[in-house]
Amino acid sequence: MKVPLLDLKRQYQSVKPELDSAIMNVLAHTQFILGPDVKQFEEEAAAFCGIKHAIGVASGTDALLLALRACGVGPGDEVITSTFSFFASAGVISRLSATPVFADIDPKTYNVTADQIAKKVTSKTKAIMPVHIYGQMVDMDPLMELANSKKIPVVEDAAQAIGAKYKGKKAGTLGRFGCFSFFPSKNLGGLGDGGMVTCQSDEDAELVRKLRVHGSKPKYYHSLVGYNSRLDSLQAAALSVKLKYLESWTGGRRKRAARYNQLLAGLPFETPFEREHNFHIYHQYTVAVPKRNELRKFLTEREVGTEIYYPLPLHLQECYASLGYKEGSFPVAEKRAVEVLSLPIFPELTDEEQNFVAASVREFYRDGLPALAIN
Ligand SMILES: Cc1ncc(COP(=O)(O)O)c(C=O)c1O
Repeated sequence: MKVPLLDLKRQYQSVKPELDSAIMNVLAHTQFILGPDVKQFEEEAAAFCGIKHAIGVASGTDALLLALRACGVGPGDEVITSTFSFFASAGVISRLSATPVFADIDPKTYNVTADQIAKKVTSKTKAIMPVHIYGQMVDMDPLMELANSKKIPVVEDAAQAIGAKYKGKKAGTLGRFGCFSFFPSKNLGGLGDGGMVTCQSDEDAELVRKLRVHGSKPKYYHSLVGYNSRLDSLQAAALSVKLKYLESWTGGRRKRAARYNQLLAGLPFETPFEREHNFHIYHQYTVAVPKRNELRKFLTEREVGTEIYYPLPLHLQECYASLGYKEGSFPVAEKRAVEVLSLPIFPELTDEEQNFVAASVREFYRDGLPALAIN
């Protein structure tokens, strides 16, 4: 049996007539950039998140870039973020000529914590960017308390967390801005790149809308220098179709995660930890395991797809050598980077496939191994 990490063809088959007709509709009306589909999707996405404004942009990376720009981040500023994230979280800070300041994570959720961030706040801190990694939100109450007490804006990197909740509130609605990615493999994935910024304030929304069209309003009058970062109508039309199914797809992912937890119980490793008050959307089902690379090789031989998110924390990336971090700077993230492995999870995964993944993992550990030392 072959089990892919993700199979988007199955998702396409499940929505094919609706998706095809939405695409054909755009081809017929030809308003390809920021057309009526974008406006409609923005309204639907804002309602889904429970926030006033949703602004479609060209990618999740751009969502972060525009949100930070709107917070005034620029040369000489510092932005604090998690060292355990996709590169975009840090890259956008550097692209604004600001300095990414990294913070370590909670070993159980892999999320950055308010305590770790507090150690890094300086007079130059211009924004705090928590990353809701794998689809579970950061412990936001202490983080917002810290940020509010210092009057520092929070930009949520919710690229992996659309629909995730913290104490009943959705990802992207707690900070000044929320940033989402519609990269095809995300829980709500487009047909290419796409992203979205959410916010409550009318002025902030106006500013981000301006920034995505070269800083112009009205057209051809530029009060600031912005970007070309528009969501196109084909993406928006596809996303509108898929958004209707997102809750049920999330339910499917959660069911699969609970089933993995049972199938993998008793093995010498950690299954994902869903913190109290959190509604995890399982963008990834990530386990922390001994002999991770060997397990991955074993699963690859059995044609089970896996991935490592992420093998090297951001503070140790070559391009950030000049920032002066060393091995040992963030021990939790560094330890997790050699232990984590993401297993196949998507709503259309079958029981048989999941049984095969779990049986293969069990086979690898059949002779037993010492449990991981968890701090
Ligand atoms: C945590 C995180 N931040 C930012 C991004 C960037 O999103 P995109 O690939 O849409 O630019 C991603 C997605 O890849 C992500 O996982």
